[in-house]
Amino acid sequence: MKIVVTGGAGYVGSVCATVLVEQGHDVVVIDNFTTGNRDAVPAQAQLVEGSVADVIGQVLAQGDVDAVFHFAARSLVGESMEVPEEYWRDNLGQSLALLEAMRIHGVKNLVFSSTAATYGEPATTPITEDFPTAPTNTYGATKLSIDYAITSYCQAHGLAATSLRYFNVAGAYGSVGENRKIETHLIPLILQVATGKREDIKIFGDDWPTPDGTAVRDYIHVRDLADAHVLACETNKPSVHRIFNLGSGDGYSVSQVIEMCREVTGHPIPAEVAPRRAGDPATLIASSDKAMNELGWKPSRTDLRTIVEDAWAFTSQLDN
Ligand code: UFG
Repeated sequence: MKIVVTGGAGYVGSVCATVLVEQGHDVVVIDNFTTGNRDAVPAQAQLVEGSVADVIGQVLAQGDVDAVFHFAARSLVGESMEVPEEYWRDNLGQSLALLEAMRIHGVKNLVFSSTAATYGEPATTPITEDFPTAPTNTYGATKLSIDYAITSYCQAHGLAATSLRYFNVAGAYGSVGENRKIETHLIPLILQVATGKREDIKIFGDDWPTPDGTAVRDYIHVRDLADAHVLACETNKPSVHRIFNLGSGDGYSVSQVIEMCREVTGHPIPAEVAPRRAGDPATLIASSDKAMNELGWKPSRTDLRTIVEDAWAFTSQLDN
């Protein structure tokens, strides 16, 4: 298949582009390198540099594109509350341009990179797809708005689409992993302590209503996530918009993640308790039963040790 991967220089997008190339697909990466890394784009992919809205028309006009995997987005929760205009423009605005280009050029298969942030603060866990969507931040709101637009295009124009709502993506796949210009995510930050780039890790609150008082998250391996995208693309149905949660189904606290990183790296990783971070929920755990039952998704790297080992293999070889 010929597949366009928007945001194919970002973390999840570059892993998916790499897997698609390995599986023999013809991949076109679109990225403007606002947050992505040039090195992360697989060498075998065709690279079109630019914003989605600016270049998608010319890419789809080639006429032989079978599907689009749409990752290009801004994705930092805190930043989305400070500069919401950039999130509405770059997430919703660019996605609407993509949907229009797909309609005009008759490309009807879409896999959309969505987020657990669409659910907001859930009343209970695990979170299933029928939970109310009530995002507590602009990032989640932009992703949810795109879902509404996708649903309309499916109903009116026969688009076949799947939105995948990720929980906490982590790990690495070979030479591609988390390497952001500005890092805010827990596992890469902890591992930066082990490489000497950072002195300690701050634990954002130890008074949460969780077993050890630190926040609990569901970590999913980025390579397992890539499999779900491929399965979604292969099983998309005309006029249907499917939504799936993707997690490992297990929750780990911040303290447990730090401890696992100590074991894997052999570094003492000093930690210090700091105030809670605004907008953080106490616990987020996915039910991925629907993805397993309906997509046939079988995540195989669900234990935290594997996730941290793969992340460490990647992070430890980066230039500091
Ligand atoms: N944390 C710390 N110290 C740090 C960084 C994070 O204690 O230095 C804590 C956070 O407070 C949170 C947990 O570690 O409790 C995980 O934080 P991350 O920043 O790694 O991830 P988030 O859970 O905030 O958000 C991630 C993605 C979102 C997505 C969400 C869905 O970044 O895009 O998972 O679960 F919406």
